[in-house]
Amino acid sequence: MTAPDLFSPATVGNRAIENRIWFAPCTRHRATIDEIPTPLMAQYYAQRAGAGVIVTEGVNPSPRGRGYDFVPAIYTDEHEAGWRPVTDAVHQRGGTIFMQLMHVGRLSFEEYQPAGAKPVAPSAIQPDPDFRGYTWTCPRPKRAFGQPRALTTAEIHEEIEWHAQAAVRAVRAGMDGIELHAASGYLVNQFLASSVNHRTDSYGGSVANRVRFLLEVVDAIVAAIGAHRTAVKLSPTFYFNDVRDDDWVATFSHAARELSSRGLAFLEVSDYGEYYSYQSETRAVGLMREHYDGFLVANGGYSRGTGADAVAAGHADAISYGALFIANPDLPERFRHGAPLTAPDPTTFYGPPTAQGYTDYPTWDPRAAVGADADSANLAADPSTFIPQADQRGS
Ligand SMILES: Cc1cc2nc3c(=O)[nH]c(=O)nc-3n(C[C@H](O)[C@H](O)[C@H](O)COP(=O)(O)O)c2cc1C
Repeated sequence: MTAPDLFSPATVGNRAIENRIWFAPCTRHRATIDEIPTPLMAQYYAQRAGAGVIVTEGVNPSPRGRGYDFVPAIYTDEHEAGWRPVTDAVHQRGGTIFMQLMHVGRLSFEEYQPAGAKPVAPSAIQPDPDFRGYTWTCPRPKRAFGQPRALTTAEIHEEIEWHAQAAVRAVRAGMDGIELHAASGYLVNQFLASSVNHRTDSYGGSVANRVRFLLEVVDAIVAAIGAHRTAVKLSPTFYFNDVRDDDWVATFSHAARELSSRGLAFLEVSDYGEYYSYQSETRAVGLMREHYDGFLVANGGYSRGTGADAVAAGHADAISYGALFIANPDLPERFRHGAPLTAPDPTTFYGPPTAQGYTDYPTWDPRAAVGADADSANLAADPSTFIPQADQRGS
């Protein structure tokens, strides 16, 4: 049997997919202020339907899960109805689409919370204002996060239930599955990280206890929509948003082994290299491959060349591209032909909620390709364009 390449078909869950070039979840701040998807979003995702799988931007599953303006949600009938045109548009173009569920936890403000309460977290620990403990939300200025309050054990169970309900709504809205955002310092990652989770109940302390919330959310979603429709994103080496772990190798090895036994659709693993990341001989994708038996999607700074090499070598089963897919809606076609790539414009990543820098990136025109510089197809996304610097934020 020959080694797979980026264009080898595969089966994910019970969906046949055409290639291993996926669209990584990317928050774009183009929903309404009431967290409802817009027709512009349907157009944007349909443009990218050539991806093996689209994973949507982070979508808020719970009233306590909101942290931004113009980011969509999936916990009311209105949200659910708003997603239907998105899934229809992608399916009409033959695509596969998973919704990412993103509960922000402590990365929020009282004005986004029910009854103006404090944002919730595993423990009442404020993100360090000197260490990315602030956000920038279009069109608002930069501001520091406050001190959250710790979820009670009963509220943890409520949040698990919100995730399961969100997954049911996502599938009812036509999604092929969901991906749980357990990366980048959001709620699930806050439970995983020893620096942020100081709980003394069964959700804190030991590795097994800190991983418990992740697994209970996954199990509730699996029970609601099936393992073949359930996926997870992890970023084991990434301490962005001020989440650190005493022993990330132990924590994430345990998480990977436990997830492995659940027969999920896929596990997406981000590794950002030098940006807000542990420097170690052990890299995240390799560690996950060692402990996770299922379909593994690698992410973080891949080019066409490095992605193809990783798949051919069996390090990963697919590659997800964030910034490059934002700027190149027809990325698989461009890779296939060695066509030049458009560079992403980070100034329009996080809104404003208009078509500019969103649905107006061009598709490649082969007739204009004479003399095109195929080497530029090896352009990799520069992480400094998506890791927020002093005046930006990201998800
Ligand atoms: C504009 C933008 C928004 C992002 N939003 C999310 C998000 O909502 N959820 C998530 O898991 N990752 C998010 N990310 C991270 C990407 O999924 C991906 O991990 C990262 O861009 C690295 O992949 P790349 O080098 O191919 O861009 C975002 C990245 C960008 C550029």
